[in-house]
Amino acid sequence: MPRPAAPHSRATTRREVRRMRERVARPRRYVMCRPEHFDVTYAINPWMDPGKPVDRPLALAQWDRLHTALRESGHCVELVDPVPGLPDMVYAANGALVIDGKVLGARFRHAERAPEGAAYLRWFHERGFPTAESRSINEGEGDFLLTGSHVLGGHGFRSETRSHLEVQEFFGRPVIGLELVDPDFYHLDTALAVLDHDEVMYYPRAFSPGSREVLRRLFPDAIEAEAADAEVFGLNAVSDGHRVFLPEAARGVAAQLRARGFEPVGIDLSELLKGGGSVKCCTLEIRA
Ligand code: ARG
Repeated sequence: MPRPAAPHSRATTRREVRRMRERVARPRRYVMCRPEHFDVTYAINPWMDPGKPVDRPLALAQWDRLHTALRESGHCVELVDPVPGLPDMVYAANGALVIDGKVLGARFRHAERAPEGAAYLRWFHERGFPTAESRSINEGEGDFLLTGSHVLGGHGFRSETRSHLEVQEFFGRPVIGLELVDPDFYHLDTALAVLDHDEVMYYPRAFSPGSREVLRRLFPDAIEAEAADAEVFGLNAVSDGHRVFLPEAARGVAAQLRARGFEPVGIDLSELLKGGGSVKCCTLEIRA
């Protein structure tokens, strides 16, 4: 006589799910730049309003909390000296692109930020990294994000499409071009974050129809963010494979991350949002 199947307990199921989704953090090395000279004195994206005052002490305190959170999570954070007269230098992600210990410098679209490229490149050169200048407009990790299999390259507002070929040639990694269409999400890292290997989250409406289709093909299981989360820069996040540091106002995305076994760490960077940046913009990863 067949025995009745063992009762399927809910507790077991939940535990199994948790194990399946166990996340492992990998210690990272980041470069950041304290917002000592942060200000909004020009407007090169729709978030910037030079008429609106910036509270620099608050910006510094908020940035310090991000810096502390990354360090307390076991990550190494190195600092680039801020340069007077370069108020956007706090957005370190734009400073360069570093993969396999090689550094490709940034070439900015706007004259206001142009000197930042050389300042970051010098920092890497002084520390013995092989560096190269970019020939095309290329705003570093703002527009180039590394997954396990590809480099995702944004274009439409800042980096030129020909910079994608340059990045592919320099690093020997395939670059997937993605077109950004909404000026509020003018850099790739404002609309997409790499969570782990080939796992991403993104805001579909920031991309052209074709690029949306590419993202669906490459990442069928991605977290797709709602407008409310995207508008508080919820996609401008940094993941170590387990913890995901993101703007604390992005509660919907935080819940989606938790359901997948990630640990969201909310950070308030409201002052830095006045320049059009948040967590990821303030963080450049050094991949040795
Ligand atoms: N004000 C800066 C700009 O418009 C903000 C840069 C934000 N950085 C980023 N990685 N998305 O260039």
